[in-house]
Amino acid sequence: MSDASISDDANTFAADRLLLFGATGDLARRKLIPSLCALDADGLLPEKLAIIGTARSEMDDAQFRQMAREALEKHLPARRRGSMAQFLNRLSYQPLDASTAEGFDQLAEKVGAEGAADGDRGGLAIFLSTAPSLFGPTIEGLRQAGLTGDKVRMCLEKPLGSDLASSREINDAVARAFPEDRIFRIDHYLGKETVQNLLALRFANILFEPIWNSNVIEHVQVTVAETVGLEGRVSFYDDAGALRDMVQNHMLQLLALVAMEPPTSFDATAVRDEKVKVLRALRPVAANETVTGQYRAGAISGEAVPGYDQELGEASDTETFAAIKAHVDNWRWKGVPFYLRTGKRLPERVTEIYVQFRCVPHSIFEAPGNGLQPNSLLIEIQPEENVTLSLMAKVPGLDQEGVRLREVPLEIALPDAFAESERRIAYERLLLDLIKGDQTLFVRRDEVEAQWQWIDAIRAAWVADGVTPRTYTAGSWGPSAAIGLIERDGVSWHE
Ligand code: BG6
Repeated sequence: MSDASISDDANTFAADRLLLFGATGDLARRKLIPSLCALDADGLLPEKLAIIGTARSEMDDAQFRQMAREALEKHLPARRRGSMAQFLNRLSYQPLDASTAEGFDQLAEKVGAEGAADGDRGGLAIFLSTAPSLFGPTIEGLRQAGLTGDKVRMCLEKPLGSDLASSREINDAVARAFPEDRIFRIDHYLGKETVQNLLALRFANILFEPIWNSNVIEHVQVTVAETVGLEGRVSFYDDAGALRDMVQNHMLQLLALVAMEPPTSFDATAVRDEKVKVLRALRPVAANETVTGQYRAGAISGEAVPGYDQELGEASDTETFAAIKAHVDNWRWKGVPFYLRTGKRLPERVTEIYVQFRCVPHSIFEAPGNGLQPNSLLIEIQPEENVTLSLMAKVPGLDQEGVRLREVPLEIALPDAFAESERRIAYERLLLDLIKGDQTLFVRRDEVEAQWQWIDAIRAAWVADGVTPRTYTAGSWGPSAAIGLIERDGVSWHE
């Protein structure tokens, strides 16, 4: 990201300490520690960066390093580990129960509080990967221990609340100790290379922008399909559901990147200003423009999987699937539906954006059945990283019964085009930006709140209309009503 993005004093320092709350948790073991190790292996971490882990478990430095070593062996390919010993040397650990005021002074001592206030040390980056109920007490404990000075950044992992009111409470608690330009809210989808590539595709090419509007685009689909089920996150997921777990954050961020106006530069303020305008322009959705579902026992890739109620051990009204017909009420997108769809236990893991253009205004190829189709652009985000433009071409032949046409793909496979580049974990990028102080790929308070406002209205509509999830078989594409939602507009989901 350009140096211009680091315009504010608050973000001109690099952190030389990273304090990780929730350091023994799942995210730390699967993503954060592996990402930090991979950055270290590539020489990208500041030379002196110390990483201090904290969590409730009683452990000493050696035990924490052992836990980290096991996590790396499990979750980071050997070729990316570099010198593990060198990386593990950066780690230390301080046990702390963040729900009580005690223990923060010892933590401050471990971290080196004097450097946090100022002095010639670098700054401190704090990463909260804990239950949101701990955010308030943690920040208060940090404040009292002198760990919220001018050279401290605060990074928050989702969920940032469960509705607008609770999200405001969290944001207020953080704002009491940190200004917005030192608050880094994670949406890990923004760390994905292919998500950032959306910006390059739209704004580094002249081709798309002139046609990126309701004159030429008929509709847009955003699909985030997962094959996994509850993954042991019973209490969290059952309280959240697909709408709050996936749509409120990742899917709305994708939608915002697709729909936003060109920012004036690639910096934190310009990019986030444009995204928030889109989020605020989202039209409230009626219950009948949504479909929710919950999976029942079925099979994925030939393997039997239990239903949600069986995994949970009881009946529940939580949706594991949501499909929504959304609109962005502004000039550019007037009348263009954005169909969003996400679910657990769907047949394949795929995240993609599908842009369907309008038909040509007048066809000169009139023979019936000649196959004229509207163009489309498919942006595959994961697991494949391809961009495919579908174009019409003439089928070779002598055309005795008229010209026959067929759709042909113009395809860029990004891994082939950039075979020399390492595919990185999304958190590598985000942790590095946090350490350096670049907020461009982090979510601003007004974005999060606009997202919640829209989501809360959907949930209120569900309650008002008594909407409960329909069932779908694991391994299918959700309830059949989700197909009806889009087919009544004469279109089909891209599969
Ligand atoms: C998380 C959700 O934010 O994103 C999970 O809480 C989901 O339920 C995950 O599985 C998906 O992330 P990714 O990177 O695997 O697409």
